[in-house]
Amino acid sequence: MTILVTGAAGFIGSNFVLNWLGSQDEDVVSLDNLTYAGNVDNLSSLSKDNRHFFIKGDIGDSKLILSTLKKYNPTAIINFAAESHVDRSISAPDTFIETNIFGTYRLLRSTLSYWEVLTEKQKKEFRFLHISTDEVYGDLDTKAPPFTEENRYIPNSPYSASKAASDHLVRAWNQTYKLPTITTNCSNNYGSFQFPEKLIPLCIINAINNKPLPLYGDGKQIRDWLHVDDHCDAIKVVLKSGAIGETYNIGGNIEKTNIQVVHSICEFLDNLKPRLDKISYAQQISFVKDRLGHDRRYAIDASKIKKELGWQPKETFESGIEKTIKWYLEHDEWVKNVISGDYKKWVDNYYP
Ligand code: NAD
Ligand code: DAU
Repeated sequence: MTILVTGAAGFIGSNFVLNWLGSQDEDVVSLDNLTYAGNVDNLSSLSKDNRHFFIKGDIGDSKLILSTLKKYNPTAIINFAAESHVDRSISAPDTFIETNIFGTYRLLRSTLSYWEVLTEKQKKEFRFLHISTDEVYGDLDTKAPPFTEENRYIPNSPYSASKAASDHLVRAWNQTYKLPTITTNCSNNYGSFQFPEKLIPLCIINAINNKPLPLYGDGKQIRDWLHVDDHCDAIKVVLKSGAIGETYNIGGNIEKTNIQVVHSICEFLDNLKPRLDKISYAQQISFVKDRLGHDRRYAIDASKIKKELGWQPKETFESGIEKTIKWYLEHDEWVKNVISGDYKKWVDNYYP
């Protein structure tokens, strides 16, 4: 059995590939076009693993995708490939529309051509698992119950609108062509290998480099936080037992304001790596201009996946954030390469 993982050199994709190969003996074909967010270094521990194959390529390159599918015969595609950063989607939406909408559309089309000529048994076993976000449900009122799978799609940013469009395409390919798709909508992930444009890695790295910890607006926006290992386990459960055509919400049951998150990071760092002057890292917090159209709250009701598939998160925020901070402190070479862009230079030489 082989699976194809797209966006495999990104944050969640690379964690998923490492988790998969660490827990079962099935081949993985990793495909990623290595944008600024894709880092092959994340998969370097697999360089001698003959169960792993890496292909640099775009999900929208139908010729490449079809030849890859024919060559490796995967029983599943897990689609992580996307532009994922909300702030970038506000200042430069083009690549979000291109990858998240057109890229997903082309990937679905290629997958359908591959799937249609499989044997009946292979067709039944095949899955196209699309990884999406809770942001498609829009801004949640402070007193409203968390998002269920029944919530309306009301995306507010170019990022969430492009993800919402991709979710609709995935649904349509199931309803119309019977492609066996499943979609998951997940809350904010954190953990190892996350690119330091996102709140948690940004604040860990800025803190120890004596830089400001920027909080947008009043810092009271609420997110639900899920450790990436829990997300990877949930995806494996959905792949194994999820129902075709269904969507599953995945969350950590951990709603926190951004201020709370950043204060937790500061407290852990105060213990793990105190500043030379012994003053708390919290004094580096700086309130900055708010994000345009900033959603105040997201929260996930993950009772469907718990009830139907038996998954629930294992990490608490305290255990997960401590693990994450320690990972960043222990991987200063990775951090240095990412910040300096050295990994991009290496990739451009290696994959001209
Ligand atoms: P990421 O930005 O770290 O990684 C995305 C990866 O996709 C990168 O390696 C990039 O090179 C690759 N990619 C981009 N365009 C591509 C293309 N056209 N063809 C092939 N590869 C391409 O993102 P992430 O945080 O790992 O998110 C992965 C998926 O999970 C995304 O679909 C995102 O919308 C979704 N998601 C993320 C979170 C989160 O908190 N990070 C939460 C819910 C859902
Ligand atoms: O909810 C799931 C989503 O979580 C995913 O779909 C996205 O791909 C992922 O990037 C993430 O989106 P957010 O916008 O919530 O993540 P980000 O880390 O950018 O921001 C988290 C919160 O922190 C958000 O309210 C904005 C705020 N923030 C962010 C940054 C980068 C700050 O206050 N300061 C910052 O510097």
